[in-house]
Amino acid sequence: MNVRHATPEDAEAIAKVHVAGWRTAYRGFVPDAELDALRWQDRVADWRERTAPGSTVTVLVAEDDGGLVGFASSGPPRDEDLVAGRAWELYAIYLGPSTWRRGVGTALLRSTIEAVPTHVPALVLWVLDGNARARGFYERNGFVPDGTTVPSRLGPQYQDLRYRIEIPRSGGEA
Ligand SMILES: CC(C)(COP(=O)(O)OP(=O)(O)OC[C@H]1O[C@@H](n2cnc3c(N)ncnc32)[C@H](O)[C@@H]1OP(=O)(O)O)[C@@H](O)C(=O)NCCC(=O)NCCS
Repeated sequence: MNVRHATPEDAEAIAKVHVAGWRTAYRGFVPDAELDALRWQDRVADWRERTAPGSTVTVLVAEDDGGLVGFASSGPPRDEDLVAGRAWELYAIYLGPSTWRRGVGTALLRSTIEAVPTHVPALVLWVLDGNARARGFYERNGFVPDGTTVPSRLGPQYQDLRYRIEIPRSGGEA
């Protein structure tokens, strides 16, 4: 298994993993009809843009002999309460369901943390409160909830929780 930076040629494979991951992760939270209607073809253009040279988004992909099995995207934080330069955000991390629980997520997460600019001391992410698999994964990897919650865009009955990890930096403040 290899982790590398994505290129626009990966956009189609990333879109397929994204939709497959969504369908499995959010089954039970999002109506089946909505999940079944998702089309990877609708997401290719966005991934092409995010992986293009000059994009502010870092997209890492994991691949094995059979091709691309997962991706993680990260970049500057979107939340206004986070001071620019003091935190980075993991926007998304998705694997195809057949690849879950084999350490690929951990490898993508470690590479994402390594790719955070060296002067930035923390990484944050948003996760659905009911996504126990992902929360277990993040907690196992050292993330903790920072106490910030918002109603989820999946529906008013759900909350999104913000998690955070402080990145150890040798050599102190930049
Ligand atoms: C979340 C995700 C990226 C984790 O990747 P992964 O490769 O399966 O994780 P790893 O194999 O590296 O697992 C590491 C740890 O995560 C935790 N974990 C993984 N699956 C879990 C589950 N079903 N329940 C509880 N904890 C789980 C465990 O602590 C696991 O360690 P262990 O197997 O030694 O107990 C992957 O499951 C995924 O793509 N899920 C669907 C998309 C998603 O929900 N993304 C996050 C959106 S915020």
